Amino acid sequence: MERKEFVRKVAISSSVLLSAPFLFSACSDDDDDMLDGPVTIDLNDENFSSLQTVGGFAYAGDIIVIRSGENSYTALSKICTHESCTVSYNHSSNQLPCPCHGSVFSTTGAVINGPAQASLKVYPVLKEGNVLIIT
Ligand code: FES
Repeated sequence: MERKEFVRKVAISSSVLLSAPFLFSACSDDDDDMLDGPVTIDLNDENFSSLQTVGGFAYAGDIIVIRSGENSYTALSKICTHESCTVSYNHSSNQLPCPCHGSVFSTTGAVINGPAQASLKVYPVLKEGNVLIIT
């Protein structure tokens, strides 16, 4: 193999190796937290009437949506990262307790008390008129 050919093969091999982490990261566990598509909530729907009040919360699929302020909403995974029970929301403490083994999460998804080790996934919420769009 000539030197020029050797350098070309090393360059190609290196670029494949350097891009491998990016290729594999596309298949990481983070994808498990991705929504299949946007979740929309019509705030006029009586199933979500609890979101009319600050501090109220509702479930939409695997998401817990919290009316966190006059014009703000927070959406997180409702599935506890310990053993997959459904978390709820306590407005007075502004925390999400899990009824099964006592884990507590903040509204940023962070673990406050275990046994859960991993945070809850937080999803962006956009409000357009009376519709919430969670992505
Ligand atoms: S499932 Fe939530 S603390 Fe165990």
